[in-house]
Amino acid sequence: MTARASPADHQLATSDNRIEASSAAPGTGASAVPPMEVAIRTSGLTRRFGDLVAVDRLDLRVRAGSIYGLLGPNGAGKSTTIKILITLLPPSEGTAEVAGLDVVREARAVRHHIGYVSQLLSADGGLTGYENLMLSACLYGIPRRERRARIDEALATMELSDAAHRVVSTYSGGMVRRLEIAQATIHHPAVLILDEPTIGLDPIARRAVWEQMRQARRAGKTTILLTTHDMEEADALCDEVGLITHGRLAAHGTPAALKQTIGPTASLDDVFTRYGDPRDEGGSYRDIRGTRRTAERLG
Ligand SMILES: Nc1ncnc2c1ncn2[C@@H]1O[C@H](COP(=O)(O)OP(=O)(O)OP(=O)(O)O)[C@@H](O)[C@H]1O
Ligand SMILES: [Mg+2]
Repeated sequence: MTARASPADHQLATSDNRIEASSAAPGTGASAVPPMEVAIRTSGLTRRFGDLVAVDRLDLRVRAGSIYGLLGPNGAGKSTTIKILITLLPPSEGTAEVAGLDVVREARAVRHHIGYVSQLLSADGGLTGYENLMLSACLYGIPRRERRARIDEALATMELSDAAHRVVSTYSGGMVRRLEIAQATIHHPAVLILDEPTIGLDPIARRAVWEQMRQARRAGKTTILLTTHDMEEADALCDEVGLITHGRLAAHGTPAALKQTIGPTASLDDVFTRYGDPRDEGGSYRDIRGTRRTAERLG
């Protein structure tokens, strides 16, 4: 079994493959990234539920135009962080900025600049794909005369044009997730946030969703923040990852740099095992329940 990392281990740095850690003083890691280039920034972000500290003084920096993976065991605080970033939950302490806007003081403006795909399913199974997209286009305030073109574009990008007029309850899991990404990107958001976008999908559907995320980034210079328990996915898709345990950032950097800290043949699974907290018991009933429901409905 691999020895656990000491805080000093976390401060390894190379010029090409950065690895930084929560133990670094505010500014040491962040100052390497010019302020204009940061799409998501949290400083001392904390969220409590009663006595439970779900997010604990989290300092995150996500580069504009990158794909960032938030990793961590069940109950680590990933979804709670995301809910703060999308303005659904206020922080208890600390600050968060998305696209340069404060999530508390400028919450309305933040909502215009983000797209969000929930950990739970959000597409309406009783409506067609087209109708779901129309709903999103209206909610995001896309002018009436532009809606049709935007919907057609979103359907084509997500390879759903042929299924546009079928009710979503007849879609496969991969099609539902692609539709939800289409809904979340129809207004061309600066930042796209996805909570476990490929959970329960078969390998082919999962790769199709990866490709759509890469396309969303290429097409609109969108910054993408996603959570996943799939280390292969994080490795294949993410420019940088942050590993959260007990609401704190245990390590972050490029997948390559994180793997290098362990050994030449290390996988991201090994990184997860090393930096994850052995006291974790796999999350509470509440944590597992939502994840399992989504997986069952998509699978
Ligand atoms: N509304 C809430 N009320 C009370 N506790 C909550 C609430 N939401 C989350 N929690 C708790 O906060 C902690 C962090 O939960 P969160 O959902 O952010 O974890 P997660 O990293 O997304 O886990 P998973 O990988 O299982 O999705 C957990 O202990 C969870 O039970
Ligand atoms: Mg979660």
